[in-house]
Amino acid sequence: MKKDTLIIRINSADMEEQLVEAAEMLAKGKTVAFPTETVYGLGGNALSESAVNAIYDAKGRPSDNPLIVHIASLDMLDELAEEIKPYAKNLMGAFWPGPITFVVKKKDQVPYKVTGGLETVGVRMPSHPVALKLIELSGVPVAAPSANLSGKPSPTDVKYVLQEMSGRVDCIVDGGDSEVGLESTVLDVTGDVPVILRPGKITREMIVECVGACEVDPALLNKNEYNLTPKAPGMKYKHYAPDAEVSVYSGDLMAVIKIFYNKIIEVIESGHSIGVMIFEEDALVLERLLRDNAIYNLTKDKVHLVREGSSKDLDILARNLFKDLRKLDELGADFILVHGVSENALGHAIMNRLEKASEGRVFKI
Ligand code: TXA
Ligand code: MG
Repeated sequence: MKKDTLIIRINSADMEEQLVEAAEMLAKGKTVAFPTETVYGLGGNALSESAVNAIYDAKGRPSDNPLIVHIASLDMLDELAEEIKPYAKNLMGAFWPGPITFVVKKKDQVPYKVTGGLETVGVRMPSHPVALKLIELSGVPVAAPSANLSGKPSPTDVKYVLQEMSGRVDCIVDGGDSEVGLESTVLDVTGDVPVILRPGKITREMIVECVGACEVDPALLNKNEYNLTPKAPGMKYKHYAPDAEVSVYSGDLMAVIKIFYNKIIEVIESGHSIGVMIFEEDALVLERLLRDNAIYNLTKDKVHLVREGSSKDLDILARNLFKDLRKLDELGADFILVHGVSENALGHAIMNRLEKASEGRVFKI
């Protein structure tokens, strides 16, 4: 059934006042989409089975995929988690509020509906002021997957939340663009050593620096080579299948540019359209090559070059990745080329999302 969706646009002056109604809706078991620093979330009271059912319905999501529960204070964590290891407390102290989710042993009152039947629950204290205030005012822990339809990229811009969730949720809170752009790091802290189940802005390197050790779910490292099942159930799904065919190339800059150039010419010669996500450094070289090509000069409108800042500052690519994939789809690109990055620090999370967006068309040259 189509819902009447209340849309609330936040301006920082009276944020608290503007959030009261949305917070009441959450407390009453309604669904509210809201901004976080990673991506927009689609929230509901985590302790109410009917609210959680409404989230799965709105998303069109399989219910074996557990939801992250968002909190505004450590007191809320006590309601959800059975026991927390000392090293996990150190990590929470270092990185909360922020873009990291901790998988901990759940208390009985957390419904299996939220955890996809698991004995553990993923908990995150977001740093976005609107998210924190909304959760605090509602007084309940808020289960929230990313606010996209299942199979679409996580929305980092409210425009896409409005497109996909209007009529499906009770309320949408517009709090501007998400700063990080990629979903949180998911870290299993139930064992003796933390294990990354989904890479994100809080990197393995940062975790090691804080507590001395950090492993990565082998299913992420080995790609599909050994057919390992990821420990975060959500990681087994194809995340974003744009209409365009995405290919990712990493390696020597000139070699990558040469491939991009040849592919662009091949695509426009066949009458198709192409989007290219490149760094500033690449753009200079690629544009010079293209300028001298007669076909390019006749069919420029079929080529969309999207700059992602410098390859030395991956925050920009992370922030824009999902938004630009959506944008290139909207522009009607048949193919999308992306300049890949090395898989350390934030590059690990970026390449993990690109692996999914490209359905494995990732080439190292
Ligand atoms: O940044 C984020 O994490 C965003 C914002 C809204 O907070 N949320 C988000 O939720 O990305 P979602 O539902 O799209 O992804 C949650 C991921 C899935 O891969 C899920 O399998 C994993 O976290 N997860 C949640 N609880 C888990 C658990 N108990 N054990 C293992 N993995 C879990
Ligand atoms: Mg998601």
